[in-house]
Amino acid sequence: MFRTRRLRKTEGIRRLVRETKVSVDDFIYPLFIEEGSGVEVEIPSMPGIFRYSLDTISKELDEVVALNIPAVLLFGIPAKKDEEGTETWNDNGIMQQAIRFIKENYPSLYVITDVCFCEYTSHGHCGVLCDNDVDNDATLVNLAKQTVSHARAGADMVAPSGMMDGTIAMMREALDNTGFPNLPIMGYSVKYASAFYGPFRDAVDSAPSFGDRRTYQMDPSNTDEGMREATFDDEEGADILMVKPALSYLDIIRKLKDGFDRPIACYNVSGEYAMVKAAAEKGWIDGEKVMMESLLSMKRAGADIIITYFAKEAAKVLAR
Ligand code: PBG
Repeated sequence: MFRTRRLRKTEGIRRLVRETKVSVDDFIYPLFIEEGSGVEVEIPSMPGIFRYSLDTISKELDEVVALNIPAVLLFGIPAKKDEEGTETWNDNGIMQQAIRFIKENYPSLYVITDVCFCEYTSHGHCGVLCDNDVDNDATLVNLAKQTVSHARAGADMVAPSGMMDGTIAMMREALDNTGFPNLPIMGYSVKYASAFYGPFRDAVDSAPSFGDRRTYQMDPSNTDEGMREATFDDEEGADILMVKPALSYLDIIRKLKDGFDRPIACYNVSGEYAMVKAAAEKGWIDGEKVMMESLLSMKRAGADIIITYFAKEAAKVLAR
């Protein structure tokens, strides 16, 4: 008789036959950095996640390094916003200051920057507006300026999240032409217009003041279009392809893993984090177990890299 249960009998044998493992090496931890001083504000819908200013962020960075998390993904929250988000390419803007601060004080930490405009524009959209919509090609021009400014400040990798067509080609060319041919790009290749971003927009104050992002982010219904997006990014020279969000899009992660010979990342987004935290707080689920099971599912689906607000917590679980 087939007895599949023979190999499930004890933890010893379960460990031996385990196919998928989550490791701290897989994690990128997002950080929200606000211009100014004395900022240490917990995001109400993301318990345990804070906005910091550069004078308060060291204990967070100490912890990230102590837990052996390899990389952080930086989001800047500027003091002033304008129509075009011109602060994004200010060499002394909050992002650029943050990059320099971290590379100077935590040289071993790998610093990835979010390249986008929504936190920097007065209207909260991810680029330059024209007729109440984001103008793709005008945005690309600014995107190149922002990218080179992050590179000059010392970023280890850049990650554009704005979903404009031609982003990767534009950034690659800009980096190659300014002496940064070795700086990698992680494409937010398949990014859906998702309601799971809600808590993030509270965190960085980037909700669009009118309309939504459906003219540039993808329709959650579409798989083939996701493959096309990933193909463009791959051909334009993205070094890593990302799927975002993660949990409701595990099928897309698997498609990319099978279809491309690039490392695949997924972004376990704010709403996914908030749901686990909220249900755990109510005592409705075991938050720690659900966290680990969710991260495992992303790996099993094919993700090589997981961007997650759970990075510190999961690293602690993995270390025991
Ligand atoms: C900005 C950006 C967003 C997220 C990452 N970069 C929000 C959005 O597209 O509206 C979401 C991250 C999260 O929800 O954790 N373009």
